[in-house]
Amino acid sequence: MFFTGDQMKKVILKAKKEKFGIIASNVVFDTSVRAMVQGYNAMSADGLLQISSGACKYAAGGTKDLLVGAKFISDMVKNIANQYAKSGVGLNIDHGAPKDMDFIIHCIENGLVSTVMIDASHESFEDNVRLTKEVVAVAHKHGVLVEGEIGYIKGNEDELVSDSQLYTDPQEALEYVKKTNVDLFAASVGTNHGVTKGADVVLRLELIKEIDDLLNANGLDAGLVLHGASGLTVKQQQDAVANGVVKINKDTRYQMEIASAVQAYWEAEKDAIVCPSGTDENAYSPDKGRFDPRKWLIKGEDAMQSAVESLVEIVGAKDTSILL
Ligand code: G3H
Repeated sequence: MFFTGDQMKKVILKAKKEKFGIIASNVVFDTSVRAMVQGYNAMSADGLLQISSGACKYAAGGTKDLLVGAKFISDMVKNIANQYAKSGVGLNIDHGAPKDMDFIIHCIENGLVSTVMIDASHESFEDNVRLTKEVVAVAHKHGVLVEGEIGYIKGNEDELVSDSQLYTDPQEALEYVKKTNVDLFAASVGTNHGVTKGADVVLRLELIKEIDDLLNANGLDAGLVLHGASGLTVKQQQDAVANGVVKINKDTRYQMEIASAVQAYWEAEKDAIVCPSGTDENAYSPDKGRFDPRKWLIKGEDAMQSAVESLVEIVGAKDTSILL
């Protein structure tokens, strides 16, 4: 089932209370959307799909029209998600930039999304608060949730590049959440976007706990978000959830899964489209039954679905859907 912002709020509050994680999965096309929705449903866990500006531009094709791309993916997510009744998925704009404010507002006002992230973390604190409050005012009027961020998360995520890491200051986080009333708060606590190895990441659990405790002590129900979580170990993810993280973002992991699965397929089935050496070209013909894109894209879809199912298990979200 496709979840509205109000339903996603229930999921976030349940995850906060029961200390499990919500896996947030970046998607671009039907293969990844089906993999995620089927995976969440198989685990009876609610999830959040995410679209970046780069994903929307890709989905629109040659025009790279953000609005067309967002509508295309939103319709796909709703159509696929509404086939299933054992879990719900929302749709989030990931890392919405201040320069794309009109796009963010359009998606909110046209019911395309359940939540939006306004990432003004590279602006001054005052401008970050001002811009985030602007989005919250519109979003909450339409029952859409808002995620904000303070601090810099290092690495590359789609069109977002940051070569510096700036840890989130807990007191600043408290002031930001109080002033903006965001529903989700992305803290920079040591993770990096892109290909990382868990062993290289120093996850500052004490910082996660300090921020979460401070928000709770001040009666603020914003859920903590962990960006750049693809390279984390099982223990790092479980420790993060135990210390207060409720939303865990994954993109690179799925890209690796589909790439590896398709690469393995073509390694084994190369002769379906390439005449094997030593074979008479005139005697060779490609094998349509094996080069049909549905035959190899499904390998990537299955690999991504297995990945999200295992991630749901790791963060304790199995059988936690608010639909159960
Ligand atoms: O918002 C998207 C995620 O933070 C991407 O992180 O590169 O570790 O998958 P990742």
